Amino acid sequence: MNKRLLLTQDSAGKTLAEVQNFDKPDSQNGDLEIKVSHSAINYKDALAVTGKAPIIRSFPLVPGIDACGEVISSDNPKFKVGDKLLATGWGLGEKHNGGHTTQMRLKSTYGLHLPSGMEASTAMILGTAGFTAMLCVKAITDKGIQPDAGPILVSGASGGVGGIAVKILSAKGYEVVAVSSEQGAPLAKSLGASKCIMRDEMAAENKPLEEQKWAAAVDTVGGKILGRILAETKYGGLVAACGLASGAGLSTTVMPFILRGITLAGIDSVYYPAGGREEVWQELSSSFKVDAAGLGDWMTEISLEQVPEYCDKLLKGEVKGKVLINLQK
Ligand SMILES: NC(=O)c1ccc[n+]([C@@H]2O[C@H](COP(=O)([O-])OP(=O)(O)OC[C@H]3O[C@@H](n4cnc5c(N)ncnc54)[C@H](OP(=O)(O)O)[C@@H]3O)[C@@H](O)[C@H]2O)c1
Repeated sequence: MNKRLLLTQDSAGKTLAEVQNFDKPDSQNGDLEIKVSHSAINYKDALAVTGKAPIIRSFPLVPGIDACGEVISSDNPKFKVGDKLLATGWGLGEKHNGGHTTQMRLKSTYGLHLPSGMEASTAMILGTAGFTAMLCVKAITDKGIQPDAGPILVSGASGGVGGIAVKILSAKGYEVVAVSSEQGAPLAKSLGASKCIMRDEMAAENKPLEEQKWAAAVDTVGGKILGRILAETKYGGLVAACGLASGAGLSTTVMPFILRGITLAGIDSVYYPAGGREEVWQELSSSFKVDAAGLGDWMTEISLEQVPEYCDKLLKGEVKGKVLINLQK
């Protein structure tokens, strides 16, 4: 028997999350059938499952913006039975049933073959967070910013996107400075950050232009911290903005842009073009080596039944890094 997490809404608009058994996924949902082995909890999944933000477009829905598993039936010659596949974004877990299930139907246009040599668990430790981190790093390297240009600042540095960005950038030879919390700082350092600045310090009021410190930055938190990052980025630098963990607002002036030529690069992983995804995943596969020991407390493996509890913990800051869902558990 298959099982999935199903989100429904009660008459008062409260989101309810329940693991239920089911026979077969709805056949209208795609031309591939997947036996899902692993998924993950991303920040957006936590908001959806707890109902803290209106992520789900219509109920009932299976959450999970990431999924990885094996093709068990296919109406598209690009994928054969037995192929290992991963899918991230495209509205999975928002508009379409997502990966928090042991079996799903999927549109083949949303699927990618797993990079050769990559385990399903690794693909889902990375997932949307890893894909987004790689897009941020690519924005920096495509701009021609090399390790000798100076340190790179990463905010939310112990989180999914931030932590992976720290690990990739430090492996590429950049000096990485983390913006983190008391609990997150040791993890950010274990992933490769040379030092940590506390969030409160970065969220303090800033002048339109501050001392130039960072060759580039990866910002996963938005709000006041992003405003200060822009004011502290060096002439010609780039800030890749992908998240809003501290807030959706942004208070800045045009000064960093018109006097220092700073680029603010917006990063979206959900609708990133299908044609470019394989290349990004290949780069991710060679840039981020997962050795279970090396990830330590930054990765937690859970069962499907534990998803609601861990979504709550993630939003309360009680769990750091990546939460991997093992659907075989
Ligand atoms: N653009 C895209 O395509 C895309 C894709 C994936 C994620 N995102 C967004 O990126 C953000 C991070 O996602 P994630 O999956 O990495 O989440 P996550 O694992 O929960 O990490 C977020 C991190 O942000 C920091 N943080 C939490 N609350 C904060 C606050 N109030 N102020 C400042 N920092 C705070 C924490 O790190 P420290 O304790 O180290 O400070 C936390 O670990 C989210 O906003 C998510 O929606 C966007």
